[in-house]
Parts: sequence; structure tokens; C-alpha cells
Amino acid sequence: MHEISRSLESIKVRDKEFEVYLKDSDIQQRVATIAEEINKEYKSKNPLFIGILNGSFMFASDLMKTVNIPSEIAFIRMSSYKGMSSSGAAKQVLGLQENVFGRHLILIEDIIDTGITMAQVINFFQERGPKSIKVATLLLKPEKLEKNLKLDFVGFEIPEKFVVGYGLDYDGHGRNLKDIYQLKGE
Ligand code: IMP
Ligand code: MG
Repeated sequence: MHEISRSLESIKVRDKEFEVYLKDSDIQQRVATIAEEINKEYKSKNPLFIGILNGSFMFASDLMKTVNIPSEIAFIRMSSYKGMSSSGAAKQVLGLQENVFGRHLILIEDIIDTGITMAQVINFFQERGPKSIKVATLLLKPEKLEKNLKLDFVGFEIPEKFVVGYGLDYDGHGRNLKDIYQLKGE
């Protein structure tokens, strides 16, 4: 399977030290494999990919480079309720322009942690009458998952530790990193 490359490379993002956890080449290989599965499964379904911003932008971009079937892509974002910190507060889906009725949707997310965000996104789309909804997430933290979600395409299952890079941020920083880094120590 996908062996996780470890190295001594470490990096500072804001005030914290991170070390390489998933190398760019391993990510690329896995993302291409997922895209090939989608090519087979959605051959004549003209799927509409829905990328969830900001975190999924790199995954969505690399995934689409190997997708070679007729398809479309759109992006949404979730409103954030920072300051209020009532975790699990209802967030809203922003920015959808496309009509999703009768469409085969593939939701693209960077990471699923508790699953609360994804459960809200799925509810939002379910109410709009798509033909099907599947989820592609690059990362999943299975130990943290609280919601009963059907996850169709999962890049890597990872432990509970905080990660950054390849679209994922720490306090808004680190999204540009090619590799994925894990918080050092603890
Ligand atoms: P959930 O609603 O708990 O599944 O949280 C998902 C969101 O939390 C993701 O879209 C990320 O924005 C953020 N998140 C969760 N874990 C991490 C992490 O390790 N690094 C960066 N962001 C994370
Ligand atoms: Mg996200």
C-alpha cells in the first residue's frame, strides 16, 4: 500500500514545528489512483465535482488533472463562525451557482476530522435533488469521526495529530507546502 515516507525534514509554520509526514510523490500517486477509479465509475455520468474551499484546492486541482471523462467542477465554501466557538454550530454553504438537481455529485474535501462539516455539506446538497452524492477526501482521521458518513474515496487514513500543507492550513498558513507535515512531538 502507500508507505509513509519519514525524513528528518522539519519546518516552522507560525509558532509551531512540523515534520514531513506524507511526501509529495506519495500524495500524487494516491490522488492519481483515486482519479482512475472515478474515471471508471463515472464514465458516462458527467459528474459535477464540488470542491470545498479553501483546503481542497490542491487536491481538487491534482485530481482533475488525471480525470479524463466529461465532467464539470464548481467550488463552495462554508461560512465560519470563528469567535463564537460553539463547536458544531450550523455553518452555511456559500457560493453555489450551479443547478445540482439530477446531477451526480462528487464532493472534494481535504480532511475529515469529526465529520461535522461534511455532514452539513451533504445535507445541503441532499435537499437539492442530485442523482447521487459521493465523497472524495484526501485525509481521514478515523479516531475522531463522530458522524456516520459513507466515505467513498479516501486518500489516507491518518492518526489524530494536526497536519499542514497541500492545501491544509495552520492559522491560515502552510497551504502552499507541497508535502504534508505533522505537528512535531506531543
Ligand atoms: P470536521 O468538521 O471536524 O470534520 O473538520 C473538518 C475541518 O477541520 C477541515 O475542513 C479542516 O479545515 C479542519 N481540520 C481538521 N483537522 C485538521 C488538521 O489536522 N489540519 C488542518 N485542518 C484541519
Ligand atoms: Mg477544509
